[in-house]
Amino acid sequence: MQTIALGTSPLQSSRLAYGCWRVAGTWNPAEVTPAGRAAGRRAIVAACEAGYTLFDNADIYCGGEAERIFGQALKEVSGLRERILVATKGGIRTGGDPRPDCPPRYDFCAQHILRACEASLQRMGIETIDLYLLHRPDFLADPEEVAQAFAKLKAAGKVRYFGVSNFRPSLVTALQAACPMPLVAHQVEISLAKLDAFTDGTLDQCLIERLTPMAWSPLAAGLLGNGAGDLLPSQKAYRPERFLPVVDGVARDRGATRISVALAWLLKHPSRILPIIGSVRPERIREAAQAVELELTREEWYRLLIAARGEPLP
Ligand SMILES: NC(=O)c1ccc[n+]([C@@H]2O[C@H](COP(=O)([O-])OP(=O)(O)OC[C@H]3O[C@@H](n4cnc5c(N)ncnc54)[C@H](OP(=O)(O)O)[C@@H]3O)[C@@H](O)[C@H]2O)c1
Repeated sequence: MQTIALGTSPLQSSRLAYGCWRVAGTWNPAEVTPAGRAAGRRAIVAACEAGYTLFDNADIYCGGEAERIFGQALKEVSGLRERILVATKGGIRTGGDPRPDCPPRYDFCAQHILRACEASLQRMGIETIDLYLLHRPDFLADPEEVAQAFAKLKAAGKVRYFGVSNFRPSLVTALQAACPMPLVAHQVEISLAKLDAFTDGTLDQCLIERLTPMAWSPLAAGLLGNGAGDLLPSQKAYRPERFLPVVDGVARDRGATRISVALAWLLKHPSRILPIIGSVRPERIREAAQAVELELTREEWYRLLIAARGEPLP
């Protein structure tokens, strides 16, 4: 697969990343079965074989089980760790952590970032995380404190590069101003069903600061594919049936699939959006990789944008 640099770092990623959110087959750690783990490992190995070299994870995915399954896949395939980049996220604490009466919250205290990162390393059974992202902005985030935690992790060799996820551009600026190292990625939801990043300054900032935008739910959690997987509450309001006929029209014209068109639409943006594929089915993981070969024209891109907006351009 083609590759791109992650931000200003020397790290090279495949043009599509693979996301491990769904690899346990359930959100509930108590429901994970040996068969579910095996299916998750097969998905990860299929992604490697299809040429994906960046793997995204998070400490909260299935209560840490997604990182454990990923770690098992790394052990199973000899030499795999050296061939790929490992990304994971921290900074969200679920309700009941550490005491039953604690509410769900975001926590960018240095102590929590250091502990969460260490726990991710343990679960994945690795020494170093290539890219560590703060998952959702902590309302109480102190950029100086975060920067100190990042510097400690880097000096200890535990993390190579850092980034953020779901931040407002102004908070990225505040954090970058405090950090001694460049932030290299911003992970946000971007798809034909979720256009905010094009207009809220996120992609403009990625262009200015040379951050790589990583697109989560690039197929709107399956709504742009052949049927939705589990949707986040916000995704339940999406109405892709309004514009899917236009996507299918472009796909017919180009002899491509619907998902290739939806992904190629993201790939065309000059900020070099890096879509994170979330299917756990090997054939779909392979199919998504074909999108990298499809270059849409400017006219096709705008036809899709106008359909997705559901209203004419101003
Ligand atoms: N930073 C954040 O806040 C955040 C939030 C959410 C996700 N993420 C990251 O983004 C990654 C991707 O998110 P996502 O899983 O929602 O992405 P996605 O690729 O938009 O959606 C994947 C879902 O679509 C389904 N699907 C239906 N038809 C498909 C087709 N033809 N091809 C491919 N998939 C099809 C898949 O089902 P099957 O598995 O049955 O194929 C799967 O349930 C996650 O794994 C995670 O790493 C980050």
